[in-house]
Order: sequence, then C-alpha cells, then structure tokens
Amino acid sequence: MDKEIENIKKEIKCFHIKTYNDLETFRIKFLGKKKGIVTILFKELKKITICKRKIYGKIINDLKKEVQNKIKIFNSKNDIQKNEKVLKLDPTIPGKSIEIGSIHPLSIIRNRIIDIFIKIGFTYVDGPEIEDDWHNFTALNIPIFHPSRDMQDTFFLCKNPDILLRTHTSSVQIRYMKKHSPPFRVLSIGKVYRNETISSRSNFMFHQAEGFYIDQKVSFSDLKQTIHYLITSFFGEVKIRFRPSYFPFTEPSAEVDIYCNGEWLEIMGCGMIDPQVLENVNIDSEIYSGFAFGLGIERLALIIYQIKDIRIYFDNDIRFLRQFKSEF
Ligand code: PHE
Repeated sequence: MDKEIENIKKEIKCFHIKTYNDLETFRIKFLGKKKGIVTILFKELKKITICKRKIYGKIINDLKKEVQNKIKIFNSKNDIQKNEKVLKLDPTIPGKSIEIGSIHPLSIIRNRIIDIFIKIGFTYVDGPEIEDDWHNFTALNIPIFHPSRDMQDTFFLCKNPDILLRTHTSSVQIRYMKKHSPPFRVLSIGKVYRNETISSRSNFMFHQAEGFYIDQKVSFSDLKQTIHYLITSFFGEVKIRFRPSYFPFTEPSAEVDIYCNGEWLEIMGCGMIDPQVLENVNIDSEIYSGFAFGLGIERLALIIYQIKDIRIYFDNDIRFLRQFKSEF
C-alpha cells in the first residue's frame, strides 16, 4: 500500500498540465467521482480496520490536497496570464472617433426658409412627390393639350399616364386648399422633377419652396411685402425687381429678380392666385383672394454660396459638404 501511495504521489507530481483540457483530465484521473484514483482509495478505506483507517485516511487526504493544490496553482497562474492579456489593451489609446457631419447646404437653406416663414405665421406642410395629373396640372388651370404644359417637361408613368412625378410644389396648394377652409398661410418645400438634361444649371430633380396665403382682401402689396421680407432676410437690403410674367395659375404673375454683384438674378416666380384655381377647389373667389410664390432652393443656394455648378450639390463629396455651417 505504501508503495502504491508513493507511486500515486509521483504520478501527481509528474502530471504535465499545460492546458485547461489537461487540467480537466488530471482532475478526473485523480478526483473523478467514480474512477478517480484518490476517490477509489477513499472508498477502500471502509474495508480496513479502524486503527489503520485513521493513518491511511490522513495519507489519502494529503494526496487529495496535493491534487487540489496543483489545480489551484495552475488556475492562479493562468488567471494572471488572462489578466495580463486584458492589461495589454492600452486604455490610454483614444477610441475610434465618430466624425460629426455637417448639414447639407440645401438643407441649411431649406431650414432657413422654414424659420423665416414660421415667424410670420405660416404653417409648414408636405405633399406627395408622386402626383396625379389633376393636382399637378388640371386644377392649376393647365388642362390636357394646353400649350402651357410644355413649360414643364414631365415624367409620366407609362402604365398610367394619369400619374407623374410632380413638376412643381404648386400641387400642394391644391391638396391643402381642398382639405382646409381659408384663411391660411402655408409653406411647403420638397423635390420636384422635370425631364431636363443634367448641366451646370439644371437637373432632372431639384427642390422648390412654395408659399401661399389666402384670406379676404389679400392684395398684390401683401405679396410684395412678403417677398421683400423673404429676400431681405437672406440678402439684407438688396434691390428687388418684379418683372411681369406668366403662370397659368396666377394672375397677374411676376418673376422676381435681385440685384447682386452687378447683375440681375432671377430668383422666383409669384402672383395672385387665379380666381379659377380657387373655384376649382370650391373656395369662393368673390370672398377670398390670395397670392402664391415658388422658388428653387438650388438656385438660391448657388447665389448665396456663389457656386457655379448645381451638380456639386448631389456629388456627395464630403470635402465640399464639410465646408458648410448652419449659419451664414
Ligand atoms: N410653380 C411655378 C414653377 O414651378 C412657380 C410658381 C409658384 C409661380 C407659385 C407662381 C406661383 O415654375
């Protein structure tokens, strides 16, 4: 028995534990519940006399402690190594930074226009970009086959030519007027589409801002004052010129130019809403009158930022986009 114990001792000492798998094999070999060498010795204790049992009990207990010690030593060494691995992460290295973006120049202009009109009591509304013929054209005094349709070359849906990509935000006037009763002051901004060749000055998609005001006794001087307020909010005191123009849905109509860097620049269209348009949406044109205006956001941005090519707004070149701050 003594020799057997010596051999077991040796075996415990010499067992090579390199990995956690080895450790588990070691533990099972000596302390496994059924066949562990030390476990079996404990079981055999019951078979010997009480006197011997005390002596051998202690010896076997020591064996058990040796096995447990070896396990402890391995665990503590490897836990240190684990911790060292964690410590190799240098917490002083700065984390990956998330770059702060900037607001797109067209959004900056858009937000500015909204701010300007909210201050004078306008409500902001959105309208659909996919429109039907009636809202985009017919209700705005542009019946089918009318030559004024040619002013806006349009993307129609092949399958259903009644559906199109809106060519202007004026369709929002119709949608709003149909649902609400006057008075109202409304602003809408969004994408519009025209079948135009892409160049430095034009694109098949651009953004428009549309404003309209309907109440009793709204006159052309209200229109002029509102436009003056809009333009001076952007450009300060500049010369403004109203040039007679034509839109099927306003009468009289005008084009507005500003004098900037020695030249006149056209920035928007406007006019008194044609009484027929009011009638088309069941508003009594004997009682109510109103004005409307529409302007291109890209065009305004070109003037404000003194940019010559409209395409740069859509290239998404961050070197360009980064230059814009929300204040100007
Ligand atoms: N809808 C016109 C256009 O796209 C602009 C406009 C809006 C003109 C409102 C007058 C009044 O050209």
